[in-house]
Amino acid sequence: MTLFVDSFGRRHRDLRVSLIDKCNLRCTYCMPGEHMKWMPGADLLSADEFVRVIAIAVANGVTEVRLTGGEPLLRPDLVEIVERVASLPSAPSVAITTNGIRLAKSIDALVNAGLQRINISLDTLDAQRFVQLTRRNELHAVLDGIEATIASGIRPIKLNAVLMRGVNDVEARLLLNWAIERDLELRFIEEMPLSVGGSWSPDAYVTTDDAIALLLPEFDLRMLPRDEHSPAFRMEVVGTGGSVGFISSISRPFCGGCDRIRLTADGQFRNCLFGRDEHDLRTLLRSGADDAALLERMLASVGAKKAGHGTDDLGLLEPSRSMHAIGG
Ligand SMILES: C[S@@+](CC[C@H](N)C(=O)[O-])C[C@H]1O[C@@H](n2cnc3c(N)ncnc32)[C@H](O)[C@@H]1O
Repeated sequence: MTLFVDSFGRRHRDLRVSLIDKCNLRCTYCMPGEHMKWMPGADLLSADEFVRVIAIAVANGVTEVRLTGGEPLLRPDLVEIVERVASLPSAPSVAITTNGIRLAKSIDALVNAGLQRINISLDTLDAQRFVQLTRRNELHAVLDGIEATIASGIRPIKLNAVLMRGVNDVEARLLLNWAIERDLELRFIEEMPLSVGGSWSPDAYVTTDDAIALLLPEFDLRMLPRDEHSPAFRMEVVGTGGSVGFISSISRPFCGGCDRIRLTADGQFRNCLFGRDEHDLRTLLRSGADDAALLERMLASVGAKKAGHGTDDLGLLEPSRSMHAIGG
């Protein structure tokens, strides 16, 4: 049973929590390279505040909590947050999305704290291209982080890759081979127009169909049954024992099956990654509101959710904040 049901009957069980807007990469599709204005520290929710909101969500029907950012491993209290969320009475599944840079040092502590699922972002295996894409020279640290994650025993391990035409699309097959060899599930995510002032254009982004076309010369792909709530559809990579996922947020939006709600690092509750609708929980949290008042505001946000993402019109899509500030 979930209380988070919107006016279209969609049941929300997946809460994405951005723990921090800061990141140690500057991916070109996510944020500008310079002059970043981070949220003031006092605006960020504390571990107690995050756990309180998550506990209310979990008590009322959320079953999966994904911690993201920004880069969640930049939060010094991340292990504590994972442990406290994993220990909530209805034991939600706790997942993390990370760029992997700091994983080598922390993965064992995270797994011991109750982390159950992990997604690591990896757009390229080429060190120079990594710098071009992320504006930081950190590929070695990401690869060390992936090796440590494999050794930690946590499964499944998913890799997220955003392909960009003329930048890293040549690596689509290489990335898939690399992932399959390590028993990791690679998912190609369509680039979304989520960097304020970014260069996304409807004609230039690499669609799921483009990505499949890049893979077909080397791989035999067969559709797997779809989980209606998963943003990814999966294909078996025949003869390898592996599979590959595709997240087609733009070319084949999956809003009809969306079961996600979001909390930003500064305590704003959102019903969609796109759009501008935010319900302020931080002010309530800091003015002595009780759990019922917080739940009421969360339900108001869910009640206001639109049928399709953001404005229901991709041509009008313009995020109010970049991806790093909302949480991917
Ligand atoms: C915003 S990041 C936050 C978590 C963490 N720092 C990471 O790198 O995974 C989460 C995911 O969003 C993806 N992402 C960021 N901007 C995107 C965009 N404009 N379109 C598609 N995916 C994007 C990243 O590639 C990453 O896999």
